[in-house]
This record gives sequence, C-alpha cells and structure tokens, in this order.
Amino acid sequence: MSWLVTGGAGYIGTHVVRALDAAGMQPVVLDDLSTGIESFVVGDTPFVRASVLDTAAVIAALIEHNVEGVIHCAGYKFAGESVKYPLHTYQQNVDGTRSLLEAMAVAGVRLLVFSSSAGVYGTPSSPVVTEQTPTEPESPYGESKLIGEWLIRDQVRATAGTDAALAATSLRYFNVVGSGFRDVWDASPHNLFPKVFAAIEAGNAPQINGTDYDTPDGTCVRDYVHVSDLAHSHVAAARMLAAGRGLAPVYNLGSGAGTSVREIVDAIVAVTGTSLVPIEAPRRPGDPARIVATGDLAADDLEWKNSHSVREMVESAWASHPHGS
Ligand SMILES: NC(=O)c1ccc[n+]([C@@H]2O[C@H](COP(=O)([O-])OP(=O)(O)OC[C@H]3O[C@@H](n4cnc5c(N)ncnc54)[C@H](O)[C@@H]3O)[C@@H](O)[C@H]2O)c1
Repeated sequence: MSWLVTGGAGYIGTHVVRALDAAGMQPVVLDDLSTGIESFVVGDTPFVRASVLDTAAVIAALIEHNVEGVIHCAGYKFAGESVKYPLHTYQQNVDGTRSLLEAMAVAGVRLLVFSSSAGVYGTPSSPVVTEQTPTEPESPYGESKLIGEWLIRDQVRATAGTDAALAATSLRYFNVVGSGFRDVWDASPHNLFPKVFAAIEAGNAPQINGTDYDTPDGTCVRDYVHVSDLAHSHVAAARMLAAGRGLAPVYNLGSGAGTSVREIVDAIVAVTGTSLVPIEAPRRPGDPARIVATGDLAADDLEWKNSHSVREMVESAWASHPHGS
C-alpha cells in the first residue's frame, strides 16, 4: 500500500513525501508541475505528471499504485493573486478537491489529509486563533480552502456508516518557512522569506511596516512554523487515519507563541550577513498587531511541535535558497 501526495513536487509536498518515505509509508507523487519542481522528487518515488482536475488520471494513479490514502497538498496558494484570478483559484482548489474526492470514491480510497490554510480565518477578531475561531476568509484563496474543507466534511457525512466511509482531516497551516533539505526551497515569488531574500540580493533593504504596535517590540507578531515540523504532523495524521483513529475535522498548525517582524528581520540580517540596514516604515492599513494560533489540539493528536528556532528557520531557508535566482 502507498500514500499519494498531490502537489508532491511543491515546497511543502516534497517535505511530506520525504517524511513519508523516511517512515516507510511508500509515497507516490501526483503533480502537474504548475509551480512544482520535478527535481524535488528524488530516489525511486513514483511520479505521475497529471492535474488533480483530470479525474480519470487520478483514478488510474490510485489504482496502479495501490493507494491507501491521499495527502492533498496540490493547490494555488497565492492569496493576493487569487483576488485578481478568482476563477482560476476556485478551479484549482475547489474543482480540484471535488475531482480528487470523486476519484477516491471510484477507486475506493478512504483516507485523506487536506492542506488547508490560516487564510480561512481572514483577520481574526481575537489575537489567539483556535479551531473555534469563526472562519471569515478575506480572499478567494481563503474561501477556496474553506470550501475544500466543506466538500470533505460533506463527503465524510455522506459516506459515514457505509463500506466506503471516508476518514479525513484538514490541517490549517499558518506561515510555513524554512527547509529540511538543501535541494528543496520555497519557490513562491509572493511568500515572505523568498521575497526578502530576493530583495536583499537585489540590494534593497528589508522593510518593517509599523513599529508602534502594542506588542513586546512594537512590530507585528505572526505565526511562523518550520516545514519539517509540519511534514511530521502529516505523517502522524496519515498513520492515525490508517490505524482507524478518529481525528478532528480541522487542526491549526501554529506555534502558539508567534514571532515579531523585527525578530524575523534581525535573523535574516544576521544569517545573510547583509550590510543593508532595515528600513522602518509606517503601518500598513489592515495589518493586525498579532495573529497567533494555538497548536494544542494538534499537539495532542498529531505529534505537533514547533521545534525550530527563528534562527533555524531563517538559516535553513537561506541555505536552500537558489542564490541569484
Ligand atoms: N506555503 C504556505 O505558507 C502555505 C500556508 C497555508 C496553506 N498552504 C497550502 O499548502 C499546499 C502546498 O503549498 P506549497 O507552499 O508547497 O506550494 P507550492 O506551490 O510549492 O506547491 C503546490 C504544488 O501543487 C502542484 N499543483 C498545483 N495545482 C495542481 C493541480 N491542479 N494538479 C496537480 N498538482 C498541482 C504544483 O505544481 C506544486 O507542486 C497548498 O495547497 C497551499 O495552499 C501553504
């Protein structure tokens, strides 16, 4: 039996694939390489180049590789871009999840772990986010992830008590950073670390927006988690589902503590050795002072632990960053 990782040639998917492999759980990658990188798939891991929208191709992959469960990382993850291209975002994230669920039903695959996002919360009213915090997404991206969760919830309900009962959980990630491998990096042009690294390489100083917030050092506090810790909890979720253990429908994978923008920028300056001096700029409208999630539920059920320091997050990201790209 094997586990199919959709989006397994992407930044997070690759970490999940390698963690499954290390756990002896036989990963198979299905990816259309729209943002993924084929060289991230190494060793004898089977690679199927296909879109999750191609239901027939997914069914064939599930059957050919004797798949026991799916970790669904494939998706279009750019919240800002999703505002400009909502139909594309819904197609990839909503139609894609629907197609995958159909393929799983046809092939008789009954276990699913879904890559969801903190984007489902929008700007939370409370500074500490729990799974009970109301979901109020503010972009088509966040909406598409929430709809993905609903599709899964409804399919779980519809199949409950039958031979085809689907067992599933959705993991809501906060800001995923760092790297577990020198040959795997976050290739997103929109995420914080790759953006700041590229700016530094171009000779532009990192910018801190707002230094007068009601936080310990006056800058905004956000929730950064290391991708290897995240991958570990996916494997734990897969193992629990395979063992027939009931999991909650959603888990937050957050640090519980949070990291200030200044801490991140200081670590980036130290690790990169740049002589550029960070610029302090005014607040950006709409930036809440603090968004941090408790990872308590995931700690109880999914061996979740944010075990990397800010310095380790930045160092590992910088070490894998394709310099000059
Ligand atoms: N990176 C983060 O901070 C973050 C935070 C929250 C949620 N997520 C979610 O985690 C998942 C993985 O994110 P990532 O950072 O690794 O992004 P990524 O862009 O590196 O990986 C996405 C992968 O999915 C593939 N893909 C996209 N559409 C596909 C399709 N229709 N069929 C098959 N493959 C397809 C891409 O080629 C890529 O390999 C995404 O679903 C994203 O929404 C990421």
